Formats: sequence, C-alpha cells, structure tokens
Amino acid sequence: MARRKIIAGNWKMNMTPSEALALVETLKPLVNNDDVDVVYGVPAIDIVPVVEAVKGTNVKVAAENMYFEEKGAYTGEISPAMLVDAGVSYVILGHSERRGYFYETSEDINKKILKAFEHGLTPIMCCGESLEQREQGITMEWIRQQVKVGFQGVTADQAKTAVIAYEPIWAIGTGKTATADQAEEVCKGIRDCIAEMYDEATADAIRIQYGGSMKASNCKELLAKPDIDGGLIGGASLKAEFGEIVNYNK
Ligand code: 13P
Repeated sequence: MARRKIIAGNWKMNMTPSEALALVETLKPLVNNDDVDVVYGVPAIDIVPVVEAVKGTNVKVAAENMYFEEKGAYTGEISPAMLVDAGVSYVILGHSERRGYFYETSEDINKKILKAFEHGLTPIMCCGESLEQREQGITMEWIRQQVKVGFQGVTADQAKTAVIAYEPIWAIGTGKTATADQAEEVCKGIRDCIAEMYDEATADAIRIQYGGSMKASNCKELLAKPDIDGGLIGGASLKAEFGEIVNYNK
C-alpha cells in the first residue's frame, strides 16, 4: 500500500499571532502539493488565527501539546475538546523538548494519545534517542520502549491512522541530520515494532516521519526511503524553504 507522505512543520515557541498570519501568507503560494498532507504545528495562541487563515487551502493545523483530562482545574493546560472546537486536526505529542524540559513521561504521552483518539484528533507521537544512547548502541531498544508504552491500549484501527515522528535528539536544531540510511534503519525498526504489537496491515498503514534538521537540501534523499513517510520540520518550517520541502517530489 502506498502511504501518503505527511510534511509537518513544528513551529515550537516561535511566531506571535501576527507573525503567524504573515508566515501563513508567505507560505500560501508555496505549499500546494496535492500528493502530500501538509500540516502546521503551531503554538496554542496561534491556533485560532491560523485555522482561520488556512481555510480553503490544503493545510491542516496541529497543536504542539494537549492535556489528557477533559476539563477542569488544570491551570495553563489545553483540552482535546478545545482543540477540536478550534478546528485542529493533529496533535504533536511527546516531543523530546517536552520530555526533556517539562518532564513528560511515556506514560503521560500514552494518556494523551488515548485521549486524542477519543476526540478524533490524530496524534503525531515523537520518539528519539540521545547521542549518548546512540553511542551506547541502545537506540532501537529505547525507541521500541517509547513506542510500546506510548501505544498501550491503542487499537489497531487507531494505530493505522497515527503518525510517529522519529527525531534523534542529537539532530534537532543542530544542523546535524541523521543520514538517510540511519533514519531509514530506525523508521523501519519502528514499523517492525508496530507489526509485532499489531499486525502487518497496521504496520503498513501507520505513517512514520523523520525529524531533525530536515531541510530543502536533504529532504529528497530522506523522503526517498521506503519507511520514511514524511518529515517533522522545525527551523526550516518557519520560512519559505518549507515550500520546497512540501514540493520535494516536483
Ligand atoms: P529542526 O528541524 O529545527 O532540527 O527541529 C526538528 C524538530 O524538533 C521538529 O519537531
């Protein structure tokens, strides 16, 4: 089965609402590619204006985080229903920056993934190893653990629609990209893990992105790999270059 590529920006903590609108306008003529799904992962405060600004285009909006409770006394958090009502389609969960700076565990991320599915949001679950783990030779073991815990209780039908982003921590924001072979090796390992947890049909359907210094100059080689179904792009999603990545096949 041919999986549809998904090219997503992760704006992280960048873009005020007015800057966000300017960026959407800049990108508008550059991100038309009917062959791929295009997603902007934007800060919470930008969600409402960006959803409005991309109406009528091929672009979908992702939140960068979400809480796993329905509502109530959780000062500062955003609920799944809020995202759905605002017109969000995807939610990035378990980014290494959230795991690292905000102490999110795979168990927290699992609760968020289950909640996202309950509300019809598609999770983009991030996983990835540190440089130290890579050097110790425990990359795949670590990532398999992140995937297994993250997907606990997720049904095969849900998993088929999910997105996993493999983002080696040492490649994020460093300009140091994993080689296409390194990225493919882990993305294939993730797919094998999904096949073991579920079945071949689920492994075949789930989409696995690579993230970590993906840019116009290296995206073609990465996206040509059989198990890399897209990209989660940080720095290069904040400029016109993102359009070149979206149109990697043109
Ligand atoms: P960079 O593309 O800036 O390395 O960021 C990758 C990333 O963390 C996307 O989620």
